[in-house]
Order: sequence, then C-alpha cells, then structure tokens
Amino acid sequence: MPSKMRVLLGVSGGIAAHKAVEVLRGLQREGAEVRVAMTSAARKFIQPLTFEALSGHRVYTELFPEAGDPEVVHVELGEWADLILVAPATANVIGKMANGLADDLLTCAVLSSEAQVMVAPAMETAMYRHPASQRNLQRLADMGYRLIGPEEGALASGRNGMGRLADPKRIVAEAVSGAATSGDLAGRKFVVTGGRTEEDIDPVRFITNRSTGKMGYAVARRARQRGAEVVLVSGPGNLDPPAGVDLIRVRTVSELRAATESAFEGADALVMTAAVLDFRPRVVSNAKIKKNANGLTLDLVANEDFLVGLGARKDGRIVVGFAMETENGLSNARKKLEEKFLDLIVLNDLNVPGAGFGVDTNVVTLIDGGEAEPLPKMSKHEVADRILDWVKERWT
Ligand code: CTP
Repeated sequence: MPSKMRVLLGVSGGIAAHKAVEVLRGLQREGAEVRVAMTSAARKFIQPLTFEALSGHRVYTELFPEAGDPEVVHVELGEWADLILVAPATANVIGKMANGLADDLLTCAVLSSEAQVMVAPAMETAMYRHPASQRNLQRLADMGYRLIGPEEGALASGRNGMGRLADPKRIVAEAVSGAATSGDLAGRKFVVTGGRTEEDIDPVRFITNRSTGKMGYAVARRARQRGAEVVLVSGPGNLDPPAGVDLIRVRTVSELRAATESAFEGADALVMTAAVLDFRPRVVSNAKIKKNANGLTLDLVANEDFLVGLGARKDGRIVVGFAMETENGLSNARKKLEEKFLDLIVLNDLNVPGAGFGVDTNVVTLIDGGEAEPLPKMSKHEVADRILDWVKERWT
C-alpha cells in the first residue's frame, strides 16, 4: 500500500453505523487519508458532522452536485480512492452493489471506480441467511470484492446471532492486509523488535529506559503495509499495535531474547530497534526492599548482547541494528556494525533536535560499510520506509 493510502469509507444505514467512526480512526492511525460517503439511511443513525470533523473532509451523500462540489462527485471520489471500504454494509447496499445498481453517491462511486472494494456486512441473522443476501454476497466475492465478516454476536434486535458487523479492529487489519498483498515486500517475513525493556529490582521496582517504541512500531507498520509478514516483539508501552502484525509482548531482556530468537528462525530479516537494557540487578529481591537512611547501592550485571549472536549466525538473512549515541556517533556506530555482524546500522544521535525518544520524527544516518548516508529530519514512518528500501535493495 502507498504510504498515504486513500480510502473511501462507505457508511450505510444500520445500528452499526456508529462503529464506522472507530474504523475511520483506525485507518487514520495506519496513515490512511479517509473520505466518507454516507447513504441517506446512514444519516438517520449518525450525523455527517461526526465524520466531517474526524476526516477533515466534507461528507458526501448526494448524487447531484451541491454548490461548490466538483462537477461529478462520484467519479472524482471513485478515481481518488485506492480502496473503497463499505462498513457497515446493509443487505440493501450489498444487493445494489451485487446487481450494479447506482442510485446514490456511494453506489455510483463504487461503480465508477477501479479501486479495490471491501465490504463488511451487518444485518439481522434472518436477512443474512436469506438466499437473496447469500447470492448477493457470493456475487460480490466473485467480482473480487473482499468480504470482512460478519461475526456472531448481539444484534440490533437484542437477539444473538450471525450478522453482527466485524470488530472494527479486524476491519482495519484486513483492509490494510488486503491492500498490502501487492506490496513490494510481499512474500518476505520480518521480525521487528521495539520499545523498552524492564528489569526488576524487587516486586515493586524496576529499571528501564526512555524508549517508547515509536520507531519499531513504524518499521513494523510500514513493512506490513508493504506486504511483508511481520512479527513485532514489543516491550511495554501504550502505542496502538500496527494492524495486521503478529504482536508478541515482552518485558525483560530474556523474554525479548527468547521471542526474537524463535521468530528469527523462519524470517528473512530482523530489524532490532528495541532498547535493550545493558544491565540488570544481580539479585532480584523477593521482598520489597525497605527504606534505609544510608541509601542503597544496586549491584548490576551485564545482560548478554544477543544481537551479536543473531548477527553471527544470520546465514544470509538481513540484520539491521540501531545505535543510540550521544557522542562520536559515526565511529561508534561503525564499530557496532562490525562487532555485531550487522548488514546495516541506523545511527540515532540523541543530541539532534527532532531525534530520539517519544517524538514522531527522527534524524538518522544509515551506515552499511560503504559511505554513511545522513538523512534529513523526517517522520519515523519515512525513516522506516528508507530502512525497508535499503533491505529490499539487498534482495534485488
Ligand atoms: N542491543 C542488543 N542487546 C544489548 C544491547 C543492545 O541486542 N544488550 C542491540 C540494540 O537493539 C541495537 C544495537 O544492539 O540494535 C545497539 O544498541 P545500543 O544501545 O546503541 O548500543 P550497545 O551495544 O548497548 O552499546 P553502548 O550502550 O555501549 O552504546
């Protein structure tokens, strides 16, 4: 999927229409630009203003141009979109799409577009089971439309059964994954580590570092969006997991190591952005350490640098490391590249504004044994793309 995927979100009328808000936000979190087309029935359930405020665009419902609209809105929208996602899709809209009817803006946009179409049905069980609905859904599938759900659960009628809109998180994940199948990293498997690690001192205290995981999550997200299969081994944090990646949560360095080593087995590349603690307390106290007027000296032992081991036995797989430096960046990073048997090291200089922890941008230098390539300040997602471009280049 392009870095700024354009999604036309079609919302049709059903009690599940409010869940389209969650779908919209999820798509935006994935970096997509979203425009919304509502059916007139949908407007009975939710105000266009909600979608207008969140999408930053006018919401389209009418087929006939209003003042200020481009001449033929449905054609423009259809051409603009990389993906048309109808969620929720009622039996009525599904019936129209299956039969080529186009009597409102959404169905016209679908008909006039060459974009990929995905449909998340939502309706009562009996309607879903009806042979007409089943035939229509089959027709959509035959036309190459991707169906997401429905699922079983509580319905508008208060009954339980098949027909409930798929979970919005699943809709977003499938939209991203579906759009990614033609990506330039399709068929490749990445392991990405990200975030901080923690080592316990006693049952209430631990040591850690300031990494938030933003860089690792950006690499995982873009790799997935570009078609790769991704395992993200993540330290603690509260970032939203990227859609469609296999997330493994860890806390300590030994957990990170176990998960990373096992995922690396079947992988093509490892991108190691995790901020691995270099030290851990020699003994972890089982009881809370009591206050003491004389203070406390912590005895720390070194954690093993398992990246070195992975680099040494990479056997044709690509290993990318990060180097976090506050002085002599280039020479320290070059040393790490060599000592850890890395193919590429990404140097982060913490002294540069806009680089490092907690921010959405980074200023890095790519070092691969040849000439160092300093990159200007850019978003972490763009940095991720540059790293992935480098890896891809290696494979071609
Ligand atoms: N790394 C690792 N295990 C460690 C320390 C670091 O696998 N115990 C990895 C990091 O994930 C990163 C790379 O090694 O990809 C470099 O980490 P960095 O913290 O920059 O350097 P260190 O090797 O820890 O060296 P120093 O702290 O002396 O700068």
